[in-house]
Amino acid sequence: MKALVLSGGTGSRLRPFTYSTAKQLLPVANKPVLRHCLEKIRETGVSEVGIIVGDHGDQIRAAIGDGADLGLEITYIRQQAPLGLAHCIAIAAGFLGDENFVMYLGDNILADGIVAAAETFRASGCDATVLVAGVPDPRAYGVAELDADGRILRLVEKPPEPKSDLAVIGVYFFTAAIHRSVAAIRPSGRGELEITDAIQHLLDSGGTVLAEKYQGYWQDTGRPEDLLDCNRELLARLGPRIDGEIDAETSVEGSVVIEAGAKVIRSRLVGPLVVGAGSVISDSAIGPGVAVGRECVVSGAGVTDSILLEGAAVDSVPALRHSIIGRWAKLSAADGTRPSRLIVGDHAQAEVAT
Ligand code: G1P
Repeated sequence: MKALVLSGGTGSRLRPFTYSTAKQLLPVANKPVLRHCLEKIRETGVSEVGIIVGDHGDQIRAAIGDGADLGLEITYIRQQAPLGLAHCIAIAAGFLGDENFVMYLGDNILADGIVAAAETFRASGCDATVLVAGVPDPRAYGVAELDADGRILRLVEKPPEPKSDLAVIGVYFFTAAIHRSVAAIRPSGRGELEITDAIQHLLDSGGTVLAEKYQGYWQDTGRPEDLLDCNRELLARLGPRIDGEIDAETSVEGSVVIEAGAKVIRSRLVGPLVVGAGSVISDSAIGPGVAVGRECVVSGAGVTDSILLEGAAVDSVPALRHSIIGRWAKLSAADGTRPSRLIVGDHAQAEVAT
């Protein structure tokens, strides 16, 4: 089996970060979302991975490389425009050949892995297996209708009136039978070759498609609140590790990871949290649910439930919460007599305490 990881797309809901960074490279618990995906693929025993990239392709290549450190052999495939998930399969046809493959959306996190699903697919002899999960509002997803044996009867992309609560989540297993269906479909109303249409075509031509209900933690990291939710979940799964320095005046509670080369002085740390290499935290209360990237400086601050990207600086801000601070961004407190001053990028969001 091979793997096809989709890492194109514009990530408009994650602006301003996605103006400069591929959404799949945004960090969750200090590791790019895409790297979490690749680790989960590796666990299934697959080693040949094609990654579909768009405009941020060079950045993705620079961050992930040839995959050797993950035990993978990575081939990059350029998609000129985001023309749909089935379009990705079409342009990867040469790479995929006639092998079975797992297609994994590079902005989805399935924290409990996909080993069991891969085994079900391998053993089933079906033409495709689609992972699904019950969600409160399925209208933003592909929605599956199943028969009593868990076979898919119908798939509809983003239906205004969903017939079930089962959303198609970001992992699909295919045999080579999918290629004929991809070639047969036409672009949807939104101008994309939809994977749901290709799977529906496979069903209509007599193919068998199973649904596998995912029992673990799943999140599509499309929006800031999703990234923060995922960050909390994955931080809670890290074991404690102190490789950096913590002074005697710092208290530590819960699961705390301090990377080598990071320093914490006169602070209160409440896990789960991670502090990246080269960062300095002083006179601050950090956590729970905080990922501080590399080379950050946090002083006299209180930060909970947040992600600080590489190089971010937070100075004398007492209660920062549910926040994502971009690379090399600086936050500091106004001196009490002056009004707030903000220089925030396009499509940024700021809520200033009054
Ligand atoms: C895509 C698929 C959709 C699926 C979703 C999962 O939607 O088209 O069927 O439910 O991913 O995240 P998109 O994120 O492209 O809107």
